[in-house]
Amino acid sequence: MASNYSLGYNFLGNSGLKVSNICLGTMSFGQGEGMRPGQADEALSHLIMDRFVELGGNFFDTANIYPIPLTGISESFLGKWLLKRQRDRYVIATKASGSMDKTDVNARGLSRKSLISAVEGSLNRLNTSYIDLFQTHVWDDATPLEETFRTLNDLVRIGKVRYVGVSNVLGWQLQKIVDTCKYMGLESVVSLQAQYNLLCRETEWELGDVCQREGVALLPWSPLKGGWLTGKIKRDQAPGSSECRIGWVNECEKGRANQSHPSYSQLASQENVWDMLEQMEKIASNHSRSVSQVALKWLLQRPAVPSIVVGVRTLQQLEDNMGAGDTNWNLSQEEMNELNKLSQPKIPYPYEMVWRMSGDRKRK
Ligand SMILES: NC(=O)c1ccc[n+]([C@@H]2O[C@H](COP(=O)([O-])OP(=O)(O)OC[C@H]3O[C@@H](n4cnc5c(N)ncnc54)[C@H](OP(=O)(O)O)[C@@H]3O)[C@@H](O)[C@H]2O)c1
Repeated sequence: MASNYSLGYNFLGNSGLKVSNICLGTMSFGQGEGMRPGQADEALSHLIMDRFVELGGNFFDTANIYPIPLTGISESFLGKWLLKRQRDRYVIATKASGSMDKTDVNARGLSRKSLISAVEGSLNRLNTSYIDLFQTHVWDDATPLEETFRTLNDLVRIGKVRYVGVSNVLGWQLQKIVDTCKYMGLESVVSLQAQYNLLCRETEWELGDVCQREGVALLPWSPLKGGWLTGKIKRDQAPGSSECRIGWVNECEKGRANQSHPSYSQLASQENVWDMLEQMEKIASNHSRSVSQVALKWLLQRPAVPSIVVGVRTLQQLEDNMGAGDTNWNLSQEEMNELNKLSQPKIPYPYEMVWRMSGDRKRK
């Protein structure tokens, strides 16, 4: 491990499981037709995982469908890497619900049948007999919650899964999941994976509150907003498609650009984005750190966040982002307040009124 470097470890929600404060996301592993350029090939993916654990990382995130649309490759790279390692030392998280076979109507969703097939497929690709954190990838409106969470509970009972998590749900859905598990005496949900970053703070409004009150870990995905929060995106200079993901979406995937897959033109006209990036640069320079590290450290200092799911496609990006997990430095309260203020979204009804009227009755 590098000298003077100390990665933090935190409990995953209310569980007794400790995870490194940086989790290595693996959506950027795997190249092929239809993929954005610059994804890591297998050799580079192994080097990235080697360095991640050398720096103290123990927590990996994948999904059966990564890298979209080339399903299964990311889990296979991780599975081959695990064969060379002491598997028990690592916390492996994966997800289910996305389709692995478009010709099979039951190959997606959170039914008992699709979940059991998904877990078997993931175990196979990951070369392991158990998954540490099995997450539902997105809300399934068709399957009763009781069916999904009873199945996940059974997967824990038979030892194929250690902990259950969810991803991409609304506030009321998360609360309903938590309550259903409680009332049915099922394994509780230990984590929520959601988009959360300085350009996506709506996640705090209900999801953040439920996480804090119910002891559910909030694991931010896209912590750098796909690259926007790194300091490399400049005003009036749209990056080219071969330079980075933001440039590639801007030029090649205009039609697919959305708030979780952003392009340059999507945010470039928003003055508040540039104001915030300018302030982040100042803070980064005060600490002799990078803008990316400031963005990630801000997340680590927010409530309910034990670990951040980072995505990298080079070793340099990994080195940089791991620096945010170093416990030898923190943002001051003043710096947190400045970033909170600059990143605050406009608050619509009913939130604005309910919070304003709560006055001194609002919990901290
Ligand atoms: N649950 C879900 O639905 C969901 C959805 C999305 C992601 N995720 C998870 O979250 C992980 C991270 O998501 P993400 O890739 O969108 O995260 P992100 O941190 O917002 O974006 C990562 C991208 O930013 C650029 N980058 C990263 N670090 C950098 C640095 N230090 N300096 C300059 N550029 C840097 C790289 O792309 P360029 O070099 O091309 O700019 C990299 O691929 C995924 O791997 C996955 O595990 C989960």
